[in-house]
Amino acid sequence: MQSIDPAKLPRHVGIIMDGNGRWAKQRFRNRIFGHEEGANSVREVARCCRKLEIPYLTLYAFSKENWQRPKSEVSALWSLLDRFLESELPEMVDKEIRLRHLGDPEGIPEDVLARLRKAIDETSGFDKLTLSLAINYGGRQEILLAARKFAQDVQEGRHLPEDLTDEVFSSYLFTADYPDPDLIIRTGGEYRVSNFLLWQLAYAELYTSQLLWPDFREEQFMEALVDYQGRERRFGKTGDQLKSDSTD
Ligand code: IPE
Ligand code: IPE
Ligand code: MG
Repeated sequence: MQSIDPAKLPRHVGIIMDGNGRWAKQRFRNRIFGHEEGANSVREVARCCRKLEIPYLTLYAFSKENWQRPKSEVSALWSLLDRFLESELPEMVDKEIRLRHLGDPEGIPEDVLARLRKAIDETSGFDKLTLSLAINYGGRQEILLAARKFAQDVQEGRHLPEDLTDEVFSSYLFTADYPDPDLIIRTGGEYRVSNFLLWQLAYAELYTSQLLWPDFREEQFMEALVDYQGRERRFGKTGDQLKSDSTD
């Protein structure tokens, strides 16, 4: 495998962790077994980001739409998250990893929310890696919430409608102080964004893997980074312009 150029690493990687259910089904096991194994991929990929000094990793753990799943699966996911937060907090503290939540706190079971808030509080002073969990998250809902908050600020005289620029709008999102994702990875072989970071992914590079999330580990993550490093990010310019670094 090609090696990684530390100077060309993404600053922010987002991952749509998909395929846990199919992974379990292939093994004639309950879907929850796949989610449990997926948690090991989470740990491995987060450790890898920390090691490589990638400053932001955002993981899609539970979408607004995932509430439509069977009740038993939803409650098993909450219980898994609760256990995961408890077991991983010491390592997060030890490695100076900051945990953050993107999404709607309302609807998340009280005990899980309390555990989440505790981990967020206890790691709030760290900045080696910002590990964000998108939980009860939806990109459209995030945009609507931002629009409502801005409208409220206009109504109360803190802003004029014409103040609204890209930057101002971004500052109303959950990711207010984050760089936009440079790389979005989706496992599980699907080619869709499923309501993940809709505003923020405007210029992200997309990488899809046929592998199911529990099979996506350090080696596969490194492969994604190598692939990313081979991309030419033109941001609307021509390839020649990038080479000469001018607008002539
Ligand atoms: C992703 O795996 C995890 C969550 C959405 C919580 P899935 O549970 O969607 O797995 P598949 O796509 O059914 O295989
Ligand atoms: C996306 O996976 C959400 C998460 C990874 C949490 P889904 O499995 O819910 O996505 P769809 O339903 O296939 O689009
Ligand atoms: Mg899925």
